[in-house]
Amino acid sequence: MTYRACIFDLDGVITDTAHYHFLAWKALADGLGIPFDEDDNHHLKGVGRMESLDFILARSDRTFDATTRDRLATEKNDHYKTLIKGISPADLLPGIIEAFDWLDARGIRIGLASASKNAPEVIAGLGIADRFHYVADAGAIPRGKPAPDIFLDVANAFGIAPEDAIGVEDAAAGVTAIKAAGMRAVGIGDAAILREADLVLPDTSRLAANGLAVLAAQA
Ligand code: BG6
Ligand code: MG
Repeated sequence: MTYRACIFDLDGVITDTAHYHFLAWKALADGLGIPFDEDDNHHLKGVGRMESLDFILARSDRTFDATTRDRLATEKNDHYKTLIKGISPADLLPGIIEAFDWLDARGIRIGLASASKNAPEVIAGLGIADRFHYVADAGAIPRGKPAPDIFLDVANAFGIAPEDAIGVEDAAAGVTAIKAAGMRAVGIGDAAILREADLVLPDTSRLAANGLAVLAAQA
């Protein structure tokens, strides 16, 4: 027996947009005189736009009303959109197409569980929109990661039990969400940060052989 679905995060797993999110938040924080660096950014990976903004604004001694917060979120998103404008298949991280092919060859369904409302544009630019059997709509999911909701939404769309799915994530909040959903997790990145994952790989280059196949053998 193996798992029946593999549910991917997008930013930082399939493509390096995690860095673009950081650059856009950094520019906003700099403009407001709020300190923000790559270490702080680890807390924002997988976290929704408004929650991320609130994390940054909480480090200021000023208060920001709802209108200002909306304007700042739009400003960050407009900047982010300019950064991802030219995104193309060349921006796919190594091993991702091989992972999709490995899953397809075994009839394992492929889902996307990204917190990003820009996900449809990003996967279209990457040329992989048709590789997913289901793409969760971040705007329709009540609770963001680390809540399990978005991963459960994909399992539900596939009509499978959560324990028959695995998730792939680069964010601590994302790994927590996968585990809270009752799925097994492949972490991509630093094992010290992704402690809850069942298996951690430093990058996606050997995702199929060293991640997906290993969990399939354990199932
Ligand atoms: C997640 C990213 O995938 O999407 C976060 O890891 C980001 O950094 C979140 O804040 C929401 O993205 P967006 O594109 O809707 O602002
Ligand atoms: Mg991510």
